[in-house]
Amino acid sequence: MKLICGFLAVLLAVYSSVAVDKNNFKSCDQSGFCKRLRAFKPERSPFVLNRDTVIVHGNVLSAEVNSVSVENEKKTVLWKYALRLSALVDGTFRVEMDEAEPLYPRYRTQLALDREPKTDSLKLLSEKDGKLTVANSQGHQVIITMDPLKIEFLDARGDVAVVLNEKSLLQVEPLRTKEEKVDVDENGESVVAVDEEGTWGENFKSHHDSKPRGNEAVSLDVTFPQADNLYGTPEHTDKFALRSTVNSEPYRLFNLDVFEYELDSTMAIYGAIPVMYAHGSKRTVGVFWHNSAETWVEVDSRAGTVVSSLVNLVTGADAPAAKDARFMSESGIIDIFVMLGPSPAEATRQYTRLTGPTPLPPKFSLAYHQCRWNYVDEEDVRTLDENFDKHDIPADVIWLDIEYTDRKKYFTWDMEKFGHAGDMVANLTAKGRKMVVIIDPHIKREAGYFLHEHATDNGLYVKNKDDKDYEGWCWPGSSSYLDFLNPAASDYYSERYHYDHFPGTSRDVHIWNDMNEPSVFNGPEITMPKDCRHYKPPHDGHTGIASFWEHRHIHNEYGLFHVRATHAGLLSRDAGKYRPFILTRSAFAGTQRYAAVWTGDNAATWGFLAVSTPMCLSLSVAGVSFCGSDVGGFFQNPGDELMTRWYQVMKESCVGMKESCEKVG
Ligand SMILES: *[C@@H]1O[C@H](CO)[C@@H](O)[C@H](O)[C@H]1NC(C)=O
Repeated sequence: MKLICGFLAVLLAVYSSVAVDKNNFKSCDQSGFCKRLRAFKPERSPFVLNRDTVIVHGNVLSAEVNSVSVENEKKTVLWKYALRLSALVDGTFRVEMDEAEPLYPRYRTQLALDREPKTDSLKLLSEKDGKLTVANSQGHQVIITMDPLKIEFLDARGDVAVVLNEKSLLQVEPLRTKEEKVDVDENGESVVAVDEEGTWGENFKSHHDSKPRGNEAVSLDVTFPQADNLYGTPEHTDKFALRSTVNSEPYRLFNLDVFEYELDSTMAIYGAIPVMYAHGSKRTVGVFWHNSAETWVEVDSRAGTVVSSLVNLVTGADAPAAKDARFMSESGIIDIFVMLGPSPAEATRQYTRLTGPTPLPPKFSLAYHQCRWNYVDEEDVRTLDENFDKHDIPADVIWLDIEYTDRKKYFTWDMEKFGHAGDMVANLTAKGRKMVVIIDPHIKREAGYFLHEHATDNGLYVKNKDDKDYEGWCWPGSSSYLDFLNPAASDYYSERYHYDHFPGTSRDVHIWNDMNEPSVFNGPEITMPKDCRHYKPPHDGHTGIASFWEHRHIHNEYGLFHVRATHAGLLSRDAGKYRPFILTRSAFAGTQRYAAVWTGDNAATWGFLAVSTPMCLSLSVAGVSFCGSDVGGFFQNPGDELMTRWYQVMKESCVGMKESCEKVG
């Protein structure tokens, strides 16, 4: 399914060529944890499972895991961790690893899962040679090697399908205070750890990140034996099949507003969905890295070891190919779902069971959308509408970008240009057309603007590191950002969509949520500083630093919190009776439950037409099957042939959606 959204660039057509300014965005080396973790390559994993602590109960195996240093054959426990392996229905397992006694709770991603996953049973089958074997009710076995820790998942035929920590890259950086003594010298005595540069603060360009909790990164490697290709982890402008990143930048997952994003790149753009599939002739399996912090994904492929390759050369046998992926996140816990397929359909269904399906979209939303920045007034809309009829082009939806508002104050209309919004909408919808209007998450800081005043008075904004309302620069100028993690902010925002609060709208007016990475023009990497503070439900004993979450923890799910509030508002404006249509630019795992996604500000070139398909395929296997690109590109102007071909691609990709495609054709 594709959106047909022909933004035609006007304002920005002056740019003769399209090029991203890479200096605005971090490379792995400029991102402290990515650089640190990429350099972490121990010969032997320091993590050891403590056999005496293993409990198998219900669907869960729990155990203590220790990180251990070995010197002169003397083992010293450095840190204690809590491991949980759970069996879930439908050939799915979950592995969580947190510190056993963290200084304060580590963040757990909140919104990706549709509901608490349904459980299967888990039985201890055997223990020998330092390995525990457990199985679910479907006969999938999991073999846990204890020293060092390694976890192998076997498919129903008994073949190893997924391995965790085979490459010894598991890491969980313990939370500590600046004075914490964590290192141990050769005599087993504690010594004050020397903080690496950057532990308590990092700089990027003119921005300082205060990192009040210090380093708290997590990392895990996943090996997929007998896999030919890896897919997923959108959103990037790359090919559908992921490539090895060992000698380049890893794939980055960090929702960013990248002006003039480039083709064939592993750079982060608007969406970040950390699910990956491994496909081969034997099976298709998947892993879902449940973490909403900035994440880098290293992909490696190998055709067996050098030795076996030589043997294979001689014998002519197939090399035992494998693909590896390594997930590195700035914070959170280790939390990974392993989905054992074995078919592509089953693997994607297992992922959908976790994060929820795409609801059946309203029919009109599958058809022809007409959009540009900007239709300027009611007459412009009327002329556009009439011209579609005059030329017998069956358009279904007309979109309004930011200029319809009273100087970028959302939920208002510019009364000079759109003084009869209700009439305009009624004229449009009388013949079956719909309207989509934009609502962004930044709020204009202007005295007298009801939304700003209510949010200020009730403490509904994201706070800066000094606990004051965070102020950034966006379309309206000085802006603050609603903290959708606060239920009071989400509920208030949802209610703004009700007809009595948003005059001029009707059941036929739907919503476009843009700029929700969130985009902050003067922020680090054009987004919100990571040390901004979000709401955390009050909890006994959680004071100081433990009484809020940092933006660092939740960044990739900010847009998901935003569209969830929009979705709740559109549903409740009609007492839950009508399916809303919402388009979002930022995306995370689970976004598909609320909104469709488009690929943002592309350009009118053949390369962007070509990449629109792999980008949407990648989003689709990551759950977002309702995906599209700006037809004809956003930046620059398409020639006749490019425009025609783009329409044709849309038509071809609508196979199965016969009626709406006929409208397009
Ligand atoms: C709605 O349609 C009527 C009848 O064509 C027209 O007179 C009126 O100006 C239209 N209103 C708007 C706001 O476009």
